[in-house]
Amino acid sequence: MDEHQRANLAKWNELVAVHARSAFYDVDGFRRGCCSLRPLELEEVGDVAGLRLLHLQCHFGLDTMSWARLGAEATGLDFSDTAIEVARSLSDDLAIPARFLCTDLYQLPKVLDETFDVVFTSYGVLCWLRDLEEWARIVARFLAPGGRFHLVELHPSSAPSRTSPRS
Ligand SMILES: C[S@@+](CC[C@H](N)C(=O)[O-])C[C@H]1O[C@@H](n2cnc3c(N)ncnc32)[C@H](O)[C@@H]1O
Repeated sequence: MDEHQRANLAKWNELVAVHARSAFYDVDGFRRGCCSLRPLELEEVGDVAGLRLLHLQCHFGLDTMSWARLGAEATGLDFSDTAIEVARSLSDDLAIPARFLCTDLYQLPKVLDETFDVVFTSYGVLCWLRDLEEWARIVARFLAPGGRFHLVELHPSSAPSRTSPRS
């Protein structure tokens, strides 16, 4: 891991506690059963019941677990050990059967030998990645034949709006 990646990881580890307490992520609402996914991705991805879904850069896993609540066999990955610890703890507490992997995205082919019906990634992911061509190869590597990739992304200078609330 180079200096840039180490700094990026340290920042994300630090942000997990801040985000987990924030109104934006609304963990209490999630605990009560609210879905963290927005209408855009719900409509775009469609019915996931019974599908194997891989969520790249899942942060502390609310969206991954929301897909699991909708019936997907969901796997989330993130390189932040703090984020994955919180994700696993929430999924245990809430008995949501999602799997979480703590790994750098670029190392994923070395730690996972499976394919998925859906590969999903969203909101604030691309700007952290050092090599988008390699990222695209990794996405393709993990898609099963006929599988679908869904990317929902923001402009790097924008932030998710409070006027497009999580449903
Ligand atoms: C803006 S957050 C994603 C937020 C997510 N869409 C959500 O709503 O919770 C970006 C995530 O990318 C992760 N990340 C950044 N670079 C990564 C890498 N190389 N491998 C895996 N995860 C990475 C960070 O740890 C962080 O959790």
